[in-house]
Amino acid sequence: MAKLAARAMAEDPRVTEAKRLLRETLRDHQAALTGIRPPDPELRQGYEQTLARFAANRGASLYYPYLGSGMGRGALVELADGSVKYDFITGIGVHYMGHNHPSLLEAGVDAALENTVMQGNLQQNSDSEELLARLLAAANRKGAKLAHGFLTSSGAMANENAFKVIFQKKFPAHRVLAFEHCFAGRTLAMSQVTDKAAYRQGLPETLAVDYVPFYDETRPAESTAEAVAVVKDHLTRHPGLHACMIFELIQGEGGGYVPGTAEFFRALMQVLRAANVTVLADEIQTFGRTSEYFAFQHFGLDEFVEVVTLGKLSQACATLIRAEYKPKPGLVSQTFTAPSVAIRSASVILEYMETEGFLGADGKIMRLSRRFTDKLKDLARRHPELAAGPYGMGGMIAFTPLGGDPDKVARYLRKLFDAGVIGFIAGGIPAKARFLLPVGGIEESDIDAAFPILERVLVEFAASEASVAAAGAAGKGKA
Ligand SMILES: Cc1ncc(COP(=O)(O)O)c(C=O)c1O
Repeated sequence: MAKLAARAMAEDPRVTEAKRLLRETLRDHQAALTGIRPPDPELRQGYEQTLARFAANRGASLYYPYLGSGMGRGALVELADGSVKYDFITGIGVHYMGHNHPSLLEAGVDAALENTVMQGNLQQNSDSEELLARLLAAANRKGAKLAHGFLTSSGAMANENAFKVIFQKKFPAHRVLAFEHCFAGRTLAMSQVTDKAAYRQGLPETLAVDYVPFYDETRPAESTAEAVAVVKDHLTRHPGLHACMIFELIQGEGGGYVPGTAEFFRALMQVLRAANVTVLADEIQTFGRTSEYFAFQHFGLDEFVEVVTLGKLSQACATLIRAEYKPKPGLVSQTFTAPSVAIRSASVILEYMETEGFLGADGKIMRLSRRFTDKLKDLARRHPELAAGPYGMGGMIAFTPLGGDPDKVARYLRKLFDAGVIGFIAGGIPAKARFLLPVGGIEESDIDAAFPILERVLVEFAASEASVAAAGAAGKGKA
């Protein structure tokens, strides 16, 4: 049989040797990254100038003064100011394998040897086919019936494609049901679904969205009954006009890592099924964060899901659909599906999840989660005035520092960043500090090393706030 030139090149001993040398080089230089370290004073001035120029060109400062050097080791990342930090937010859930994972270096070399940087709907390589087949197999392994899928370049686009196929099938139904405080992305349409006023301020209304309260763990039965009643009410007010309900099974950005339960979701999904309203699971943040590939599998909702979106840690994003949602020609297409490096890396990450014991109740995702949340529980027990929680599930972890005052939480997180641990804010009021661990690049020992920093900064921050408040009160007393 004729050998493809591409295969011959991939198997060329020079490529094998080049990869070996690159892995060795990476390992040697990564050895310099042994733990967190402060910025290098000699780099500081240049770094600040670069940040200022970037802020001027962007028209806004960065949330954190973070410009990576392009180097890291597992959970550690080096910034261009010479500092090294624990990355516990991973680009909001993207750098799942940590920094400079050797297997992704190989995927990158393989991608660099491909003929094109980008792949798209008109011209794609066989690695796109492989990835889509893997995603469908992963999604269907517990009984879901997702027959087709499309790759795309962002989570918001995966959701756009999901809504488009649903609306086309359900025409003329055009209304959407969504949870209060949900986050669905930032396109024009998704900013209508996303339940945050600031994210749609000044934008035209593109979609009619009806909101449903999310699960409240302090009132399981009541909150489930309330949500079901609200869904029924919306369905009655607009008979036959709802196309779908979008489910974020663990509320992320808006909710601050609040999971629902199997009973809650089933109760809603049964009503939706009876009313012929599509169940859309937005797994853009939850994919790879529970004991299963997908949170719908974790909650046992396989029989209900009809359309599923995923992204972030998968590098290339995707919309998976049941056969009956197959769109008419022309509805879904894109110049770019994803870059070759994202497509190849996605397959490597899926392979790791499967073969390196990430999944399952005792898999790495859940083990890391327990290690971190046990520490947060202990922190909240020892300092109830400083910390509440933990919240979340699996690889999505949060706690409420300092009573959840958004300004204080943001300033605490900035101090934590300066001290060498990167988390991020979530939720509204109370605000939370949230973490998305680099599951493939972190060990329990990294959590053990980072946690004392998280605690020390919290205690110091609270003490300094208290002394500022005391000084303010004394000043007022004098006046
Ligand atoms: C649940 C959910 N849906 C959609 C999105 C949008 O994804 P992207 O930012 O890749 O467009 C996000 C991103 O945070 C998300 O968490």
